[in-house]
Amino acid sequence: MHEFEILHKDLMGRIGKLRTAHGHVETPTIMPVINPNLCSIKAGEMKKYGAEMLITNAYIIYRKEDLREEAIKKGIHSLLDCEMPIMTDSGSYQLSEYKDVEVSNSEILKFQQLIDSDVCVPLDIPTAPYEKRERAKNDLEETLKRMREARSIIQNKMLAGVVQGSTFLDLRGESAKRAAEIGFDVYAIGGVVPLLESYKFDKLADIIVTSKMNLPLNAPVHLFGAGHPMLFPLAVALGCDLFDSAAYALYAKGKRYITSDGTKKVKDLRVLPCSCPVCSAYSVEEVKESEDLLASHNLWVTFAEMRMVKQSIAEGSLWELCERRCRAYPVLLNALKHITKYSALIEKYDPATKRPFFYLGECSAQRPEVLRYSYRLNRFRLSGNVLITTDLKEKGVTESEKFDHLYLVKPPFGPYPVELGESYPVGQSEIPAEIDNEAKTVALQNVLKLLAMNTGRAKFVFRYDRSWSGHPLVEEIGKYAEVRRKE
Ligand code: GUN
Ligand code: ZN
Repeated sequence: MHEFEILHKDLMGRIGKLRTAHGHVETPTIMPVINPNLCSIKAGEMKKYGAEMLITNAYIIYRKEDLREEAIKKGIHSLLDCEMPIMTDSGSYQLSEYKDVEVSNSEILKFQQLIDSDVCVPLDIPTAPYEKRERAKNDLEETLKRMREARSIIQNKMLAGVVQGSTFLDLRGESAKRAAEIGFDVYAIGGVVPLLESYKFDKLADIIVTSKMNLPLNAPVHLFGAGHPMLFPLAVALGCDLFDSAAYALYAKGKRYITSDGTKKVKDLRVLPCSCPVCSAYSVEEVKESEDLLASHNLWVTFAEMRMVKQSIAEGSLWELCERRCRAYPVLLNALKHITKYSALIEKYDPATKRPFFYLGECSAQRPEVLRYSYRLNRFRLSGNVLITTDLKEKGVTESEKFDHLYLVKPPFGPYPVELGESYPVGQSEIPAEIDNEAKTVALQNVLKLLAMNTGRAKFVFRYDRSWSGHPLVEEIGKYAEVRRKE
């Protein structure tokens, strides 16, 4: 049977192994879109970039008689001259863009089955963002009807269930839940291309999270239309496993040069700031003049970024990658800040131990590890005299101060017993000496939490140095502890 095996996890992201009739694929991965009408880079060449699976459009093949006949006779793998697993889309995107799709759901599904597609897709109805609710609901009901029909048609192939519902999060949730009840091999989040094009990444994040919360955890999730590498870290961190990219070709056509943190107009390039095989072998002038070279560069950087994402999952540093990449664009930074509101959810999936925590900016203060630490403060049951100090160099108890316990305050985690100075996560975390206010706020909130949980049992002294002066929570702490400022 087809299956998806999860090998590594970080945040809600995972490295997985998807078995298909044409071999297994390691996720997260990007499926280059192959258009048999106009592709400059052939399917057979995709392997060298790192592609493990392709996607093509069954409807484009179906509506052209010669392609249709050849696909029926020889199969899609022979038509594209490639033995990799191939997912076929149904024409839904054409439906949403051009409204002129002349094929029924059952026809296009039977066609996908006939040409030996590895993953078939029903003719779902993408509803544009910010449509009227009634429209989104009607489209969703029709999509569900077509998915049930698809489930009865497709027998020995993998089948994708598509989540729609426009920008209505309750409809997205319902859509995912009902698709999961029907049961599919892959789940795809659809109808998001307009959000991607308008850089509404915060809304996209809400849609991904809401969908994921209602889909089975052990199934791969495809984000339809997300081919720009700058979005991979964030989308994978939220649990997307499969991506498709026409972007490499579309951007090349528009004379644009993709990088892991954005896009540049090729005419503005003075040098080639990349070391892919194209940029290493050709001059900037040659790349400017050739759409093929540009498409090839775009593919190299797209796959390189996906490998970086995978490596980050394996070493437990996906949040750091998100944080680094999201610094490239205010809209991406906004999306990262936005997803910190899901930290409690992400914390449930995130592995409990990983490599040392690097503090890279104010979003790090909201990381799941920090939240988890605050959940565990109740393990510290204190009695006697306790010194809590912001001076991380405080080693022990001085002569005049007889304390039973010494707690150091390390932002963003907050108080930890000096004895845990070497342990994960707080002791091993690396923070800048000049720490920002967000980290201090979270640390002081956790000091307050520790105080509140031990009132009546322990007597506290909170000692802080100049850099913490004026923080409003220091005053709040004064209600529960004797506060001393260290000069
Ligand atoms: N390609 C981009 N968006 C979509 C979508 O919503 N559905 C399908 N089937 N394909 C897409
Ligand atoms: Zn390059």
